[in-house]
Amino acid sequence: MRKKIMLVFGTRPEAIKMCPLILECQKRQAEFEVVVCVSGQHAHMLMPVLDYFQIKPDYDLAVMKDEQTLSDITVAVLNKLGPVLAQEKPDILLVHGDTTTTFAAALAAFYQQIPVGHVEAGLRTYDMQSPYPEEFNRHAAGILASYHFAPTEWSARNLISEKTDPSRVFVTGNTVLDAIKSTLRQDYRHEELDWARDSSLILVTAHRRENQGQPMARMFAAIRRIVEDHPEVKVIYPIHKNPKVRQVADQYLQGHQRIHLIEPLDVFDFHNFMSRCQIILTDSGGLQEEASAVKKPVLLMRGTTERPEGVEAGIIEMVGTDEEQIYQSVSRLLKDPQLYHKMISGKNPFGDGCASRRIADILAEVL
Ligand code: UD1
Ligand code: UDP
Repeated sequence: MRKKIMLVFGTRPEAIKMCPLILECQKRQAEFEVVVCVSGQHAHMLMPVLDYFQIKPDYDLAVMKDEQTLSDITVAVLNKLGPVLAQEKPDILLVHGDTTTTFAAALAAFYQQIPVGHVEAGLRTYDMQSPYPEEFNRHAAGILASYHFAPTEWSARNLISEKTDPSRVFVTGNTVLDAIKSTLRQDYRHEELDWARDSSLILVTAHRRENQGQPMARMFAAIRRIVEDHPEVKVIYPIHKNPKVRQVADQYLQGHQRIHLIEPLDVFDFHNFMSRCQIILTDSGGLQEEASAVKKPVLLMRGTTERPEGVEAGIIEMVGTDEEQIYQSVSRLLKDPQLYHKMISGKNPFGDGCASRRIADILAEVL
């Protein structure tokens, strides 16, 4: 009998990592009926991803509002998803990663005794404040889930050490590697990349809640100093839609001719930008995995990472949010080709681009 699989997600990174799985499940029509529900936690940054993968959601809960609080998102998702779950009665609800949509959707399913499958399960820093509130969200999703799709052996071990039933934990690789297989193009061109040609291009992103305010001011002050002291450097920073991020970025980074602050890029463009830059300077989660795929060093402006496999492989260096440390680390990497080569020479620990197929195979077996 065909099993009904419902997927709920709400932000850009969840969409990028869930779309390959949706496409895989949709291909297997004899096995699965697929229902896609977006919470709309992100509005403007979510739809371009769905458009790129040509996925039309069956439901859009449209929860986003300006200056939304964590409570706003949690309450809205719980209230609006409940009736959809009651109507659809899926055999499983799949959620992804660690956003507030993830947590609230898993809780809504739990309240209706619908089994939850957690994609990108088992990532941990074991520090509830960093990343905040994502570390809580992924623990909570793990508690609520019946099936755990861990991207790596390390994330699977975390779950098992927390007394998760090992027969419910599956190592699948990360679906972001499936996504990036479809986006990279040899002949890609973009006017921003034409502008940056012959420079040492640093691609910047930053958005973490715990970095907003003073940490972000220090991060951006460091970037400004790096550009001023290294004439070969250009910076492209596609800024997150959050006005709290934009305000600090404007204050520190506007008005320099070698810094371009641009609107968020579509995922297709962003992956191609990643593969053509020299250094990635970020506080993002997902960029750490994608950078391993395109072999670009990541200087991670955070004090913790839930992806230590990348640090072990050498491609991620954690540089924190201290202005001087960021400045020194970037300067060192710019000046030291041997260090650069060493950072990008390790193996990609995050998967092989076949995670969606593995997850679909497991779903076909366990449901
Ligand atoms: C959320 C996730 C975070 C994830 C990030 C990916 C939580 C708690 N946080 O953080 O884990 O890393 O998404 O980017 O779930 N906004 C828009 N348009 C959009 C998206 C956001 O205008 O398409 C603005 C709104 O003013 C909104 C603000 O950005 O209030 C913050 O968005 P929100 O989803 O609350 O937090 P993120 O920082 O994006
Ligand atoms: N991304 C994008 N356009 C951009 C910046 C990022 O499509 O302008 C993608 C990127 O490829 C990655 C994801 O967004 O897959 C990361 O999102 P973000 O850093 O906002 O969230 P996190 O991964 O930290 O949860």
